Amino acid sequence: MDVTTLILGAGAAGLMCAARAGPGTLLIDHARAPGEKIRISGGGRCNFTNLHTGPENFLSQNPHFCKSALKRYSQWDFIELVDRHGIAWHEKTLGQLFCDGKSTQIVEMLLAEMRAAGAELWLGTSVIGVRHDGSRFSVVLERDGQRTAVTARNLVLASGGKSIPKMGATGLAYDLARQFGLAVTETRPALVPLTFSDQRFAPLSGVSLPVTATANGTGFDEALLFTHRGLSGPAILQASSFWREGDEISLRLAPPGLYEDLRAARQAAGRVNLTTALARHLPARLVDHLAAPLGLAGNLADQSDSRLRALCATLADWRQRPTGSEGYRTAEVTLGGIDTDGLNSRDMQAKALPGLYAIGEAVDVTGWLGGYNFQWAWASGHAAGTAI
Ligand code: FDA
Repeated sequence: MDVTTLILGAGAAGLMCAARAGPGTLLIDHARAPGEKIRISGGGRCNFTNLHTGPENFLSQNPHFCKSALKRYSQWDFIELVDRHGIAWHEKTLGQLFCDGKSTQIVEMLLAEMRAAGAELWLGTSVIGVRHDGSRFSVVLERDGQRTAVTARNLVLASGGKSIPKMGATGLAYDLARQFGLAVTETRPALVPLTFSDQRFAPLSGVSLPVTATANGTGFDEALLFTHRGLSGPAILQASSFWREGDEISLRLAPPGLYEDLRAARQAAGRVNLTTALARHLPARLVDHLAAPLGLAGNLADQSDSRLRALCATLADWRQRPTGSEGYRTAEVTLGGIDTDGLNSRDMQAKALPGLYAIGEAVDVTGWLGGYNFQWAWASGHAAGTAI
């Protein structure tokens, strides 16, 4: 069988690419359904883009690489597509856009676009081997136990990263990239909860509060959630992309103005316990947990200005050293991937092997939490699809 373009992976990027590449395109996936991560994303409502998407919301060894694709297919282009398909949406917080209904609407939309463009989709299809003979790719596929040899002028690596192997994530894109001479940067789980081997936060499991979580100089103002295994919530997931083994993270637990508030409370009602006063600003279970290590004893009248100042400073920069992360088992994305040095930023094509493309999470471009990773999948898929 001969096709113009063979796309490996019917996830967010592959579906968008197929919808733009048009007739003569075969899109394959080993899963039984396309766009499974779209389906489960955003608690089933898919945080499909972010109003504030810009290159600064992405991590990569080359922070400039994502600019061209993001500019040529922006959040506004995707919103226009969603609107054209009559999918209702809302902004939740921080520019994050979610479907009002189910995330499968986004999958259906992309499938409709892909069919209208004349591309074909094969599910339950594995890749047995890929060769390049100087002008075309020869790929052996296996579908329902049957092997099929496919030749294609273009081969698009769209099989994503390593996160959530249970959902079918594999290193296929990295292996093929290496096979064709592209470098792959170090990959690691990102947007992932951080863990502590001593499970020190187990008693606080379920407690949540707004914090600033900072790892290696980059901080995020979002919610922190204590879990049995450690720390989670959007603030920690964001910080995890910047954290490395052995690093501390800093948590600003103290709300702004805590020192002034405690001084005012001391003046108004000095007999109130320090822990009671703090529990007006922080979850009571957290205050209990901190009481022994921070020596929270006595009433407000017992606390000098310098003592209150020192306490607030500690709560503004509460240092913790996670022992690890929950890994690819729960990570929302893979940090790192196919080295952008080997790719053309306009169309995602390999500089050294025309006809080979890499898009989506497989590439060393990783978004923050909040719809940025899908926007990268749409933009890079669009860049390759329109170029093809
Ligand atoms: P994606 O993973 O979507 O697709 C890759 C496809 O390749 C899959 O269909 C897979 O089956 C297939 N494949 C893999 N190996 C293969 C092989 N060997 N042979 C054949 N096929 C193979 N992002 C965001 O912006 N907003 C959000 O709300 C969320 N929420 C979210 C929740 C959860 C739980 C996760 C795990 C992730 C998110 N994300 C997210 C991240 C987002 O899902 C992710 O960045 C994109 O799906 C990446 O799109 P890709 O198309 O590159 O890979």
